[in-house]
Amino acid sequence: MVKGDVMEIVLRKARQEDLESVIRVESKATPNLSYVGAVWGLFTSDEVGEFSVAEADGEVVACGKFTVVPDGSAWLETLRVIPEYQGLGIGKRFYERFYDLARSRGVTTMRMYTGLRNAVSKGLAELYGFRLAATYRGASLPCVQGKIPPSDGGFRLVPDPEKATALLMPFRGRWTGFLVMNRTFFPITPALCSHLAEKEMVYEDPASGSVVTVGARFLPERALHIGVLGGDMDQCLGFALEQGVERGAARLNCDFPPSAVDVQGALVDNGFCLTESDFIVMEVHLDG
Ligand SMILES: CC(C)(COP(=O)(O)OP(=O)(O)OC[C@H]1O[C@@H](n2cnc3c(N)ncnc32)[C@H](O)[C@@H]1OP(=O)(O)O)[C@@H](O)C(=O)NCCC(=O)NCCS
Repeated sequence: MVKGDVMEIVLRKARQEDLESVIRVESKATPNLSYVGAVWGLFTSDEVGEFSVAEADGEVVACGKFTVVPDGSAWLETLRVIPEYQGLGIGKRFYERFYDLARSRGVTTMRMYTGLRNAVSKGLAELYGFRLAATYRGASLPCVQGKIPPSDGGFRLVPDPEKATALLMPFRGRWTGFLVMNRTFFPITPALCSHLAEKEMVYEDPASGSVVTVGARFLPERALHIGVLGGDMDQCLGFALEQGVERGAARLNCDFPPSAVDVQGALVDNGFCLTESDFIVMEVHLDG
């Protein structure tokens, strides 16, 4: 398929029978990243957002997901166009659909992320008015007992949404606005803090004055995500590893702003490896 060829593109909600085609799209568009099969049920049962596919001349060649996160903003994710059909305007059709979905749902802010080096993805978002909101760096450690000294055993779950909000909102500035889980950049707001408390992801160790969030939006067996951590960071990381081992997660992940140099220091000192390249989160605010 080359630019100028006439083809009919239809965007529509994904249907159950699209599963194999969408897995094929993902395997061709992002050969090193595959999770669509594992989140299929979650994505297709979303009644507020939408998992959409594009058909070119009757064949599914692309997918994209519009997700509404706890503060009411939209998260655009899993945008994939198979290489033979890239550069033909299909990505733009998805952005138009995302704008339509936002208007129909009363969503006033949309966000997406991409790798710092992904010029096409960034350029496409910019074309639709998205601007850089923040930059993050990833760190990861295999969940193997003993990799980090254990915590002193003082961490307790914080199930109360108000208490979780009081503990987590102060992280907003240092974390430059977002808490990251499964490469989903959640704005740090009271709505998110309550959501995390309800999902049992907030922990506190009053003795060492430490707070950490640990959890996963999906695929907890692949990775447990440290959203924010503060206080005694070695204690927080020791506790996070205990949780990862106990829950059978393969890895511990933490995405943090490069400006938080002490966080990076604590992660690296405890054996975490940094991702090769940083990630950017971009956002647009819709008019009225
Ligand atoms: C990123 C991706 C979704 C874009 O889809 P696409 O169908 O190829 O994009 P379109 O043809 O609709 O739009 C391309 C637009 O991107 C922008 N663009 C393309 N190349 C660019 C570059 N090198 N620099 C800056 N902007 C660029 C332009 O605005 C272009 O529109 P134009 O041709 O009118 O100027 C697709 O390439 C893809 O699936 N890539 C692999 C997976 C991926 O990276 N997903 C993104 C999130 S991780």
